[in-house]
Amino acid sequence: MSGNWRILLIIGGGIAAYKSLLLVRELQQQGDAVRSILTGAGARFVTPLSLQALTGEKVYSDLFSLDDESEMGHIRLSREADLLIVAPATADLLARMRAGIADDLATTVLLATDKPVLVAPAMNVRMWEHPATVDNLATLRRRGIHVVGPDSGEMACGEYGPGRMAEPAAIAAGAAAMLGAAGQLAGCRALVTSGPTWEAIDPVRYIANRSSGRQGHAIAHALAAAGAETTLVSGPTRLADPPAVRVVHVETACEMLEACRTALPVDVAVCAAAVADWRVAQPAGNKLKKDGAGSLPGLELVENPDILATLSQPGPRRPGLVIGFAAETEQVIDHAADKLRRKGCDWILANDVSASQGVFGGADNTVHLVTADQAESWPRMAKAEVAERLVRRIADHRTG
Ligand code: C5P
Repeated sequence: MSGNWRILLIIGGGIAAYKSLLLVRELQQQGDAVRSILTGAGARFVTPLSLQALTGEKVYSDLFSLDDESEMGHIRLSREADLLIVAPATADLLARMRAGIADDLATTVLLATDKPVLVAPAMNVRMWEHPATVDNLATLRRRGIHVVGPDSGEMACGEYGPGRMAEPAAIAAGAAAMLGAAGQLAGCRALVTSGPTWEAIDPVRYIANRSSGRQGHAIAHALAAAGAETTLVSGPTRLADPPAVRVVHVETACEMLEACRTALPVDVAVCAAAVADWRVAQPAGNKLKKDGAGSLPGLELVENPDILATLSQPGPRRPGLVIGFAAETEQVIDHAADKLRRKGCDWILANDVSASQGVFGGADNTVHLVTADQAESWPRMAKAEVAERLVRRIADHRTG
């Protein structure tokens, strides 16, 4: 997806530093070359020797080393990189970045650089939630610094919550997405819907469906990796937010439509969400109770707005390319072509969701790309590959 980029990896002092060794591998696997700076604290967690062996490069750590400066000054370290990654970015390192302090090689390079910077924070949950850190992060984001993670989970200190450094694969994907800003879809604005919607029955119950959101999230990820400025409007899923994507979390179809409208104008819209067809007309304000006499509550349903059809309506704000999905169990291509006409969209990705295909929640998908005048069947492939192939088609379409 990426490749041949030069990454300057700055490793701060945290227990997550060991994961940065795996990050080196991930970056190399996507074809990138990695050079590293190890802070004094970072060197307490991983050794320069392991880093040097993995990167095949000298490891830099000392601002005042005559050897280092004559060989590779701090300005050259930045100049010879396409992207700087700080991982783990400790609370202290983030605070010093925010303040513009330059008292060691890492912070001096960070202050001197004009290259894009990605940080992967890692710290104890209370440090992460401290107003000082929250404030520092907000300022750094405003200055254009990209942030991946942290993840939630059990931490080395025994506490539970956000603060774990994002997985190396997610950081590498974030880097690929940032560098993709020079990619095929640079300058393109994209909107993706994903996941199910939840329609409330009462405060504790809702109507939902089995959509995992995997296909929609993979498409948002692939669009961003190709350089598109991507908004993902997602119903409730168990998936992590894709890196370098603006994610708007919603629950209901009405909220999803509203969030999509707010994201306009866009050049491309992909509706992959499994939007509930109906919602309860009047969700109960209090939890519905059994009345003891065995009578059943009547649920009056009303139709939800059709987001795909709404986005496809002609008008100045209509995206140039609107793509929908059709989940069919029989006569897949015919039904999809019919849906394309009814909804007014440009392309439909039709997939066979009969139980035997295991599409819902599964990793693979078998799709047919149906346009106004042709249908093209793609072999069964991973949802991530479907996403990448679709993105290539979108890029081809735009270059016409
Ligand atoms: O009508 P059906 O649900 O089969 O259509 C599927 C396509 O329409 C998908 O692209 C889905 O995201 C979109 N859709 C929508 N809003 C709805 C229902 C479906 O955007 N209310």
